[in-house]
Amino acid sequence: MSTEITKIQELLKDIIHPETGLNIVESGILAEVKEESRELFITLEFTKSTDPFLNSIKNSIKEKLENNFGSTYIINIVTKTKKVVKPKIKTTAGVEEVANIIAIASGKGGVGKSTITVNLAVALAQMGYKCGVVDADIFGPSIPKMFGIENEKPSVVVENGKELIVPVEKYGIKILSIGFFIDPKNAAIWRGPMASGVLKQFINDAKWGELDFLLFDLPPGTSDIHLTLVQSVPVTGAVIVSTPQQVAIADARKGVAMFRADGINVPVLGIVENMSWFTPEELPENKYYIFGKGGVEALAEETQIQILGQIPIVQSICESGDIGKPVASNPRTIQGKAFEDLAVKFVEAVEKRNKELPKTQQVVVK
Ligand SMILES: Nc1ncnc2c1ncn2[C@@H]1O[C@H](COP(=O)(O)OP(=O)(O)OP(=O)(O)O)[C@@H](O)[C@H]1O
Ligand SMILES: [Mg+2]
Repeated sequence: MSTEITKIQELLKDIIHPETGLNIVESGILAEVKEESRELFITLEFTKSTDPFLNSIKNSIKEKLENNFGSTYIINIVTKTKKVVKPKIKTTAGVEEVANIIAIASGKGGVGKSTITVNLAVALAQMGYKCGVVDADIFGPSIPKMFGIENEKPSVVVENGKELIVPVEKYGIKILSIGFFIDPKNAAIWRGPMASGVLKQFINDAKWGELDFLLFDLPPGTSDIHLTLVQSVPVTGAVIVSTPQQVAIADARKGVAMFRADGINVPVLGIVENMSWFTPEELPENKYYIFGKGGVEALAEETQIQILGQIPIVQSICESGDIGKPVASNPRTIQGKAFEDLAVKFVEAVEKRNKELPKTQQVVVK
């Protein structure tokens, strides 16, 4: 361990958790300190995500380090929850260790599926869940860019004579995308069956390890890819993303109908309303309903599906997608908080589904 890290750990021993009276190093709240090119990555582990001192401890760490090192380091602090009680569903098709397979879909394109997938995964990882993401948008992969890993390549390992793709890891999330294997400019020439083949490989021939959630970022509409997914693995549930415009809602309704169709029967866990209102970052109390209001609530009512979250239009959500630093990594901002709230409701919806409904069957083509 570098002397600098040792010094940081010594300094942080001054920070005491008021409830237990123990310092954060000895009590194990400080799980990890890493330094990479003048950036500090600090991981804190709490036994409960609702620890009332979580924020004050984070602030004290920042203050302590800034007092001692000035602006030498950019400080990143992530918090995790130690014990997570999670429902497990046994799945087949080579992903036995994946507890819940989730399809993130919409009817209309460009409503924010990929943005929601990435930020939901980051928020879940911060709560302590093990998460994977598959970019199933074979024709327009955007996940690598949004995670800032466009230049990464997954490696391959051989286990029991079988070659397995090892997903790329970022923010503790395991990620696979067709974008890692092909030049996106050539993606459009791919035919449906080729695309479906790749997706099957991502599901069956990848080393995911133990995961609580594997999120599939689907292409818009109802395509071959959707069918491949439901035929290849038992999907726990789908999350539908829509924006408030009437055109988006009409397409979202079709998306719901597809998952509920006879022979598919994938439970729809909830709807996420994205771009619900515009909020200028400097005026977080102001909400401008530029795409209309109430349409997604009406769809939720009509289909009897709950709304899992409302995500405002905030400039930084778009910018952070472009630079590969998801906004959910900072729950203290309004947009980070919106994704944290979404993640909490999402977990509740999965738990409820697993308690009340039987495991989804893989769709069999007759
Ligand atoms: N809440 C938001 N605030 C600001 N910008 C957003 C928000 N949600 C999404 N965006 C931006 O809108 C654009 C489209 O989002 P995204 O790529 O996530 O949509 P998509 O549904 O995955 O699209 P596609 O159908 O092409 O896969 C991106 O540039 C993204 O950064
Ligand atoms: Mg997308």
